[in-house]
Amino acid sequence: MNRSRHRGRSGQQYVINKRHSRRRLAVHELCVGMYVSELDIPWEESPFLFQGFLIESEQDIQVVQEYCREVYVDVVEEDWQAVSGHAPSTPSNTRTRYVEKQNLAQQLTQANRTYQAAKQQVRQLLLSAQMGQALDTRQAHTVVKDCVDRVVGNPNAVLWLTRLKNQDEYTAEHSVNVCLLAISLGRLLDLAPYELENLGMCGLMHDIGKMKVPPEILNKPGPLSPQEFEEMARHTVYGRQLLMGRSDIYPGAVDVAFSHHERLDGKGYPRGIDSHKISRFTRIVTIVDAYDAMTSDRCYKAGMSSIDALRIINRNVDVQFDADIARTFIQMIGLYPPGYLMQMSNGEVGIILSSDPGYRLKPKVIMILDAQQQPQPERILNLAYRPLDDFGQPYEPAGVFRSGCFGINVADYVHRGLRIQNFAYSLDES
Ligand SMILES: [Fe+2]
Repeated sequence: MNRSRHRGRSGQQYVINKRHSRRRLAVHELCVGMYVSELDIPWEESPFLFQGFLIESEQDIQVVQEYCREVYVDVVEEDWQAVSGHAPSTPSNTRTRYVEKQNLAQQLTQANRTYQAAKQQVRQLLLSAQMGQALDTRQAHTVVKDCVDRVVGNPNAVLWLTRLKNQDEYTAEHSVNVCLLAISLGRLLDLAPYELENLGMCGLMHDIGKMKVPPEILNKPGPLSPQEFEEMARHTVYGRQLLMGRSDIYPGAVDVAFSHHERLDGKGYPRGIDSHKISRFTRIVTIVDAYDAMTSDRCYKAGMSSIDALRIINRNVDVQFDADIARTFIQMIGLYPPGYLMQMSNGEVGIILSSDPGYRLKPKVIMILDAQQQPQPERILNLAYRPLDDFGQPYEPAGVFRSGCFGINVADYVHRGLRIQNFAYSLDES
């Protein structure tokens, strides 16, 4: 129970005791603004994409009425008790408020808007760096602050968005992904909100020096010669030059741009410094940078799977990567990262929607292909509920695949709207 004090308009003081609970309602009692937390049918048999959702329109109510007779909605019950001095003066008066929460689909939409705004900002900053113009970082600060809010609001939605990659915009998307992944990781490392903003800025700016590398080297569709690699490695030095001495950017971003290819064993570049000279923020950015780079498609090579990238990071702890930070990152991404495809042991295929703390091995999956890999009516499987397939066998994950496998492009799928039967949410509002 939660207790607070409140002064009414007349000046009367009240003590308010709040209790969060759920209330069973017949579907004809539903109103816009209520948060439905449970149905009277199994969730995976309903058309609703996410477990728990906000009733936003009359149409939402009609859909619920079509499938259910009763639902549970979240409520806060408040006991208001007038007080005079320290003692309650009247019997309490109970009010019930219905809880409004955002569902994952709304958060995905908002997170996508933030992602697009961040990408736009990075594009401009990269262009300014390339043209030798002054960097205007005012918007970048707003964007990073927004990124922190989104990560805190819904880490799953953010992880999903970092999967939607577009080869042609590698540097801009990579910068935003590193920013978002670093903030997500920093949050699990218990950084304070202002530190998350500083860390996000380091992630956003870490590769800005690449804009000074000649495009024929930066975009070369093949392995680099030793001379070309040397020039490519100089993006760290160029980054430092571009950011140094600027009063409008967190000073740690200069160090991260300069040092994010250093290694704990001293075999990194450009300086080959010892581990004790590598800052914590640099260690964080180094890991998420390596992961995003390894899992991205480039014009000359397909990206590797998430699990292979995590294996490489794990194999290189204490040599290249900080062990504690790397372990937290591996846990954060997990075996079943949102935005990847999952094949079940019966052959069916879906997209991983979310994996929540405590259920990392039991994610929610939106099923798309049947056992013969033909399109099937889309529906949600929540593996935490141990659902059974048509043969009465429990669904078991058999493998995780990157977007593009089985002919499923996750980005296309998301942009045309997350659709379950006749219930749709579009992410494409930007
Ligand atoms: Fe880099």
